[in-house]
Amino acid sequence: MNNSSSKPRLGILASGSGTNLQKIIEAVQSGEIPAEISVVISNKEDAYALERARKHNISNLFINPKDFNSRIEYDKELIKILKSYDIDLIVMAGYMLVVTPEFIDTFKNRIINIHPALCPSFPGAYGVKDAFDYGVKVTGVTVHFADAGVDTGPIILQQAVPILEDDTEESLLKRIHEVEYKLFPQAIKLFCQGRLKIEGRKVKIFPE
Ligand code: GRF
Repeated sequence: MNNSSSKPRLGILASGSGTNLQKIIEAVQSGEIPAEISVVISNKEDAYALERARKHNISNLFINPKDFNSRIEYDKELIKILKSYDIDLIVMAGYMLVVTPEFIDTFKNRIINIHPALCPSFPGAYGVKDAFDYGVKVTGVTVHFADAGVDTGPIILQQAVPILEDDTEESLLKRIHEVEYKLFPQAIKLFCQGRLKIEGRKVKIFPE
């Protein structure tokens, strides 16, 4: 971390409604996650995640991809901003852009993502729908370090969610969310406590 006496600083990227962000805000406020949220950034102007940040007086920024000539230029701007906030951990909470290798390299092993399926199954933007349509009996939630691939990085935590006979995509999504709301804050907490160590593809979790 930047300074041993201060709390780790989180930068959160989100594109949508930000229900995961909300749980992270609550876990930070209650002291469950020993960190502070320094900034929330979105690629979508109308992302409700930005409104949630506003309501909690957290710095929030909409950075419009259309203002940049390429994905690399966009990510360079994000890198500049995140560095200016002295961020220790970047949390992708429903961030729907695939980040560039430049971004990954800059914040190596300091980016966490959540995926609503059991990686490496069903990567990409439709993890819940793809698992449901495929007919698997078990899916789940994965929190992992981000690497240059799509939902491919070293896995921190995973939890299975059964798909029930009478499930619809909506009912499944609801149960997936419930698991996400526990698993994501838990993984962020472990990082902030310095209890995660990446060894190749594996993430070791050290006891408290
Ligand atoms: C979550 O299901 C997450 O797994 C996926 O995007 C969704 C974001 O939901 N990457 P929300 O914006 O946190 O409500």
